[in-house]
Amino acid sequence: MIGVIGGSGLYNLPGFTLKRSLKVDTPYGEPSDEYILGEIDGIEVAFLPRHSSRHNIPPHRVNYRANIWGFKELGVDRIIAVNAVGGINRLLTPGTIVVADQVIDFTHNRQTTFYDGPEVVHIDFTEPFCPEMREVLTKLSEERGLGLLKRGTYICTEGPRLESRAEIEMFRTMGADMVGMTAMPEACLARELQICYLLLAVVTNYAAGITSKPLTTTEVIETMGACTERIKQILSIYIPLLKGPRGCSCKEALKEATL
Ligand code: HPA
Repeated sequence: MIGVIGGSGLYNLPGFTLKRSLKVDTPYGEPSDEYILGEIDGIEVAFLPRHSSRHNIPPHRVNYRANIWGFKELGVDRIIAVNAVGGINRLLTPGTIVVADQVIDFTHNRQTTFYDGPEVVHIDFTEPFCPEMREVLTKLSEERGLGLLKRGTYICTEGPRLESRAEIEMFRTMGADMVGMTAMPEACLARELQICYLLLAVVTNYAAGITSKPLTTTEVIETMGACTERIKQILSIYIPLLKGPRGCSCKEALKEATL
């Protein structure tokens, strides 16, 4: 089963056959919402709106552990996360969609692991996003002219406030291309459960100070809304390519990670 996590402005996946929604309880508490189960081209898909369908869970309060654990319980072994980001790199104009390849974690107040002791685990995070899932998608983009950017570094802030101009300038000099508030710890929690995780970053606005325009949540939601049709189209041709056994190392992330 494939998992899809929708970020700000993406609260459902119209176009896939909805079967039912399912409440999942986890040892870490409640996931953001019920999982919506459906199908794309015969492949089972579970969709979860990260901030809930009413968008009442801010980024710093999302129960990331429950969300990822819930996917595991449903039998999900690959997750596609769709995240709104602010563009720091000037190439990342609003409406651009990026297959992120790196992450910098600037969060500081979140539960970042399933291994809080006594079991001690250090997973390899050199490549934070599943290389196989990225390759399949970037190849598809080339073949079908989907116009996705093939790589980009995502910096994750704690939020919920947006950034200052000086912070964005610092992030830019650190090598970040885009900024968001939710990819971490989501990506490393998925890795701890040996689930592949791909980040599809949708640029909804220029980050603070990149242009003189003030940032608004309205712009974020409206740009994501304008991209929904394209995202749906990408997912509808990408997900069918994710059939079959995994050839990446995500599936054995714990193999040499335990003390
Ligand atoms: N900053 C942080 N998170 C975001 C932004 C931003 O500019 N846009 C969408 N999510």
